[in-house]
Amino acid sequence: MNAVIHVDAKHPGAAINKNIYGQFSEHLGRCIYGGLFVGKDSPIPNVNGMRTDVVDALRKLQVPVLRWPGGCFADEYHWRDGIGPQEGRRRMVNTNWGGVVEDNSFGTHEFMELCRQIGCEPYVNANVGSGTVREMAEWVEYLNSDGDSTIARERRANGHDEPFHVKYWGVGNESWGCGGNMRPEHYADLYRQYQVYCRQYGPDRLFRIACGPNGGDTQWTETLMRRAGDMLDALSMHYYTVPGAWEDKGGATVFDMDRYLLTLKNAAGIERVLEAHLAVMDRFDPAHRVGLIIDEWGTWYDVEPGTNPGFLYQQNTMRDAMVAALTLNIFNAHADRLVMANIAQMVNVLQAMVLTDGDRMLLTPTYHVFDLYRPHQNALSLETAVFADRLANGVKQISASASVRDGAVTVTLANLDAENAAEVLLDVNAAEIFTGGRILAGEVHAHNTFEAPETVKPVSVDALKRTERGTVIALPACSVAALTFRA
Ligand code: AHR
Repeated sequence: MNAVIHVDAKHPGAAINKNIYGQFSEHLGRCIYGGLFVGKDSPIPNVNGMRTDVVDALRKLQVPVLRWPGGCFADEYHWRDGIGPQEGRRRMVNTNWGGVVEDNSFGTHEFMELCRQIGCEPYVNANVGSGTVREMAEWVEYLNSDGDSTIARERRANGHDEPFHVKYWGVGNESWGCGGNMRPEHYADLYRQYQVYCRQYGPDRLFRIACGPNGGDTQWTETLMRRAGDMLDALSMHYYTVPGAWEDKGGATVFDMDRYLLTLKNAAGIERVLEAHLAVMDRFDPAHRVGLIIDEWGTWYDVEPGTNPGFLYQQNTMRDAMVAALTLNIFNAHADRLVMANIAQMVNVLQAMVLTDGDRMLLTPTYHVFDLYRPHQNALSLETAVFADRLANGVKQISASASVRDGAVTVTLANLDAENAAEVLLDVNAAEIFTGGRILAGEVHAHNTFEAPETVKPVSVDALKRTERGTVIALPACSVAALTFRA
């Protein structure tokens, strides 16, 4: 036996906020344009400009929340450029990402339409770096007001009578970097000012999200909490898994075992970092009123050869599936404090769910992990103790988390060892009847291509071996499974 897992199914803990399974879409490379939005006149099948194939796949994933328009782009985005007749919209250069012309044909109404089609909640990230308080205040009013103001009338004239009721508002992005290069003191003061004008229209309470730290920068968190902690609903940190120096991250599909182990070690590091921030937050907010969000996370490799370096296009292998499984298990285990997370990014950028090429589309191994983990959304987390050997990088070979909803216990577990299978003994504490499951497995470099889009996909697990001590599961090298049990 390589590992023993105890799941305490008798004592459910905090609910796993479904928004932990959120996503991020930026005006970056081919995420929005070509990936999600092709325009009404495109030969690619679409509904109101949104790709039917991609939207269908994302609907199945039950994406709970989608962040937009950036990223670094958010702090150069002026929402008024993206409303009104598409042909008259202002053209700008996307200076952050590839220097391409942004024609603003995808704007506020298009984003809301995309969310409607996917069935998710919108999370709008406003511009603090190069915007104004008035600009942000008017965006909130434009989206949410039911009054008879000039701005609400403007929304109606642009085709939407009812307010959109956008709850989640980000105040700046990476304000310590591309969002204005600010000191935490300066940002905290600006945050205090901007949040005043995020007005509530009607009964819907806005959820105000402050720009949090870069990775492990607890100084930022401390300053923000001290100066503005009583005025925010959540702060958002970013954490990317970069396996090496920025100049040498390695490719998405070509990597050796050392790079694989470094990738997992860095991915596992998110737990230490988020706990460090939570400890700082606890000092200022012992009642835990303020939530933690991780609204950018995922792998970041060298771009695919021959692609625009500013487009951040990378393939996605079973290595990414392992990172996703490990990270989501960590998130589930911190359900009491984590209120949202958004993987970067949804389509064609960084650790994407979906890749497109013209009218072709494929689902990545990361998509399949999100699919396997769907039952965790809004379920109650269960304490999960994993006793396992460690890989050469110090990370446990087996990663697991569990939750329960309506009597059904879901256990998600990954064998992070790229070369060795594992036998795992699972004790689910009184919920021992196995009712079904699925597993995603493959050689660590395995990935889907447009020519062979189903190379990596989950298969069902029909039966498991029962012993007196629990259920025995054979996990192939580099695999992730979702299993359900009931009492
Ligand atoms: O996701 C890509 C970029 O990474 C985002 O625009 C920025 O916020 C972060 O640095």
